[in-house]
Amino acid sequence: MNTPANRPLLGVNIDHVATLRQARGVDYPDPVEAALICEEAGADGITLHLREDRRHIQDADVYAMRPKLATRMNLELAANEEMLNIALDVAPAWVCFVPEKREELTTEGGLNVADNLNYLTQCVVKLHDVGTKVSMFIDPNMKQVDASVECGADAVELHTGQYAEAFLDSDAEAAQTELIRIKQTVESAKQAYPDLLVNAGHGLTRDNVHDIANIDGIYELNIGHAIIADSVVSGLANAVKAMRQAMSTNK
Ligand code: PXP
Repeated sequence: MNTPANRPLLGVNIDHVATLRQARGVDYPDPVEAALICEEAGADGITLHLREDRRHIQDADVYAMRPKLATRMNLELAANEEMLNIALDVAPAWVCFVPEKREELTTEGGLNVADNLNYLTQCVVKLHDVGTKVSMFIDPNMKQVDASVECGADAVELHTGQYAEAFLDSDAEAAQTELIRIKQTVESAKQAYPDLLVNAGHGLTRDNVHDIANIDGIYELNIGHAIIADSVVSGLANAVKAMRQAMSTNK
């Protein structure tokens, strides 16, 4: 499946709106409101990660957002019974299974689908029964692509974290090596499984996204932290003006 003009779709991850809210234990900023703004601005889908430690997105956010989205919800989850039951109840358009370690700052590596074939296949069957499609967040290699297809997954999302890290470290050679690895995996995956959707994401920014967005065959990029960070900076002047206004308004 090709996207318009062969450019990938953009799924916006709104987790870090909730991070800001949880830092204060208040009810703003609201990730649902943020998701609707992202849709209005052209996002093709909304991604959110309900972590086991609930450090940002809460169960209530998932339930509140589900009926309000005009695009589609891509719910990232660890593959376990608690999360599977929530996903079966919410029945989002997509579930993306991700590995999860409590102590990590963010999702650090891809899911080892090949070593968890039986369990993940059962999860996929159950999710398909409620009309939810399934993606596996994997490192860019064909062993994990093959295993994802064997499980019945509808999509894979290739982890671009190593590419992004090399870019941040200004290690052009490592970034190029990783870019080639991602490109070759996309090519091989589309050749072997033309119907499989191949997405990518993690650590993408306006500075490093170009070469990834230009890879032929990528269906969607999921991008979060950089967009939320940019929005803080680009929205700050308006927020200061709005506060000035609130201070000078007569009661
Ligand atoms: N895709 C997956 C599967 C993720 O786990 C994350 C991070 O939650 C992202 C994309 C977005 O990564 P970032 O916030 O670095 O753009």
